Amino acid sequence: MGLKLFVTGGCGFIGSNFVRLVLRERPDIEMVNFDALTYAGNLENLRDLEGEKRHRFVRGSICDRAAVDAALAGGCDILVNFAAESHVDRSIHEPQVFLETNVRGTATLLEAAVKAKVRRFVQISTDEVYGSLGPTGVFTEATPIQPSSPYSAAKAAADQWVLAYHHTFGTDVVVTRSSNNYGPYQFPEKLIPLFISNALEDKPLPVYGDGRQVRDWLHVDDNCRAILRVAEKAAPGSVYNIGGQSERENIDVTRALLRAVGKPETLIRHVQDRPGHDRRYALDISKIRRELGWEPTVKFEEGLQATVDWYLKNREWWGRVKSGAYREYYEKQYAGRLEGGGARGR
Ligand code: NAD
Ligand code: DAU
Repeated sequence: MGLKLFVTGGCGFIGSNFVRLVLRERPDIEMVNFDALTYAGNLENLRDLEGEKRHRFVRGSICDRAAVDAALAGGCDILVNFAAESHVDRSIHEPQVFLETNVRGTATLLEAAVKAKVRRFVQISTDEVYGSLGPTGVFTEATPIQPSSPYSAAKAAADQWVLAYHHTFGTDVVVTRSSNNYGPYQFPEKLIPLFISNALEDKPLPVYGDGRQVRDWLHVDDNCRAILRVAEKAAPGSVYNIGGQSERENIDVTRALLRAVGKPETLIRHVQDRPGHDRRYALDISKIRRELGWEPTVKFEEGLQATVDWYLKNREWWGRVKSGAYREYYEKQYAGRLEGGGARGR
């Protein structure tokens, strides 16, 4: 019998890319995709999977224990928890929902997973739990965590919670901490898709502060391959950094995007900085290289060009996200077909 995967947040950016990758690369795996469809969840991200029998979508929240229990009743070998509130700026405007989803939701999901005898719990975390770096240095998995935004504080709390279950009860948990992802289907609130779509609409690109903050860009396909490897091969209780080895200042990313789209730099606007803005992130990825043989394969300039091309080809997708029309798709797609809270993955 094939392996049963339970993915949460599989209708978001990284989750939907992961679902597609697993279905493509692991013919023996079938999966449940459990997603609350918040503003960031979009079933259109998985439209190309219509009719795929190995993928079953269930709408529900990881904060809702009864819904999680029901969805897990069919059994599960590996659970991968992507579900989260993921945008730092939103966590500054509305911190409470980050505590609810990222901390309480993760704790609820883990408790349900233990009860359902899930073999392994994979927690998808972030390099932001380590805090901010100066111009030099890198974070290793042993760097003490020192989160600075409500988003990263909530992610750090979730990491500590799941690792405490391993330490105390021997629960098989593993944690991935990746750097900034980019690629297809990223919600146009994050830097790269926001700036590509704004540039295509001749709207200003709001660069926070001096724009000299540094992020380490990782193509989403590389992250998804790393997550799959960690899920299948990592030792219980381990933590892995996953980085793209592509540190760039925001202003340089912005200029590169404008060149790729063929728009002028006069679209750049320096605006008031993000409160508590982390200056720089950089990851030491020697552990995953050494122990699991994973390497980032997508060169940033090539990945960025491919991403620009994707947003050029998929104007309808991001146009519907920006206008809010994508939310109608769920109703249209599932009208009258949702008895029991779930639906076949279409
Ligand atoms: P996203 O915001 O695009 O997607 C989040 C998904 O989770 C959505 O489909 C949403 O509907 C779902 N969700 C939210 N609350 C839920 C709940 N209560 N129950 C069930 N589903 C819920 O996020 P993303 O960028 O794909 O990030 C996925 C994960 O990876 C997050 O845990 C994030 O912290 C982490 N991460 C992201 C990045 C990045 O650069 N995007 C980098 C490192 C780590
Ligand atoms: O490092 C991993 C993290 O990367 C993930 O854990 C988060 O889920 C993900 O959102 C991302 O966080 P960032 O805050 O780094 O990503 P964001 O795209 O929001 O911003 C990237 C950089 O660009 C950051 O320095 C802020 C800046 N920025 C962002 C926006 C949206 C701007 O200058 N202007 C903007 O309008």
